[in-house]
Amino acid sequence: MGKTILITGSSRGIGRATALSFYEKGLNIVINYIERKDKADEVVEILKSRGINSMAIKCDVSKYEEVLEMFKIIEKNYGGVDYLVNNAGIAFPKQCQDVTLDEWGKIFGVNINGCFHTVKLAAPHMISQKWGSIVNVSSIWGQTGGSMETHYGATKGAIISYSKGLARELGPSNIRVNVVAPGCIKTDMISVLPEEVLDSFAEEVSLMRIGKPEEVAEVIHFLLSDKASYMTGQVLGVNGGFYD
Ligand SMILES: NC(=O)c1ccc[n+]([C@@H]2O[C@H](COP(=O)([O-])OP(=O)(O)OC[C@H]3O[C@@H](n4cnc5c(N)ncnc54)[C@H](OP(=O)(O)O)[C@@H]3O)[C@@H](O)[C@H]2O)c1
Repeated sequence: MGKTILITGSSRGIGRATALSFYEKGLNIVINYIERKDKADEVVEILKSRGINSMAIKCDVSKYEEVLEMFKIIEKNYGGVDYLVNNAGIAFPKQCQDVTLDEWGKIFGVNINGCFHTVKLAAPHMISQKWGSIVNVSSIWGQTGGSMETHYGATKGAIISYSKGLARELGPSNIRVNVVAPGCIKTDMISVLPEEVLDSFAEEVSLMRIGKPEEVAEVIHFLLSDKASYMTGQVLGVNGGFYD
């Protein structure tokens, strides 16, 4: 039974591109989504056409009971999660004083509680086999803070410190935990931003353009893989050279 990869939020955007960066036959890749079953099924079909076992599971990562159910399905079909990518995330630009208590709870629920839920359930299998690789998706706003993104940046900063702690705690069990911090990447997440905002953002970037999901996916793939076998607790920026 080959190794199993769970990528949360892999029906679209960076998660989808990460799933589609794999070609090795015999892998099991679990596609997770919350609403877009059509998109998740599309990714599964492409992977199956490459000889990869794949299934789509609907699960809101902010809800522990749903994540527990997802893990039961994975364990029944594939044994356990060997590679975990915590990618599912939400964002909505707002001034700090306008963020409601519900919105604060919701963004923390998905972006950081979601990571905690999957790690809590994946770790026992990884520890027992003394092997595992985890990549958590943060953001440049988690490193620098972002105006109108204070709530989002707080969740993404938490992902970095959570991951660094995990790397220390799980390292002796041969489990690596790394972080990718993307800059501005062309996905549905940023489609709410007006074209002029994106253009002005691109002007701040050394490479003078917005990134592509595949450019983040390649770095996630590298960190997951044995090519990064001596890397843990690291945060790799994939931001085209954007500094504050
Ligand atoms: N795009 C950027 O510029 C950028 C920059 C820095 C960091 N990031 C981070 O990169 C990650 C991916 O972003 P993206 O731009 O690819 O986003 P996206 O295009 O909006 O896709 C979001 C994905 O997450 C899933 N999702 C949302 N809420 C979920 C939940 N509660 N439970 C399970 N799945 C959920 C969506 O599923 P459905 O398809 O079913 O809705 C979708 O597959 C996020 O963590 C984001 O914060 C993105």
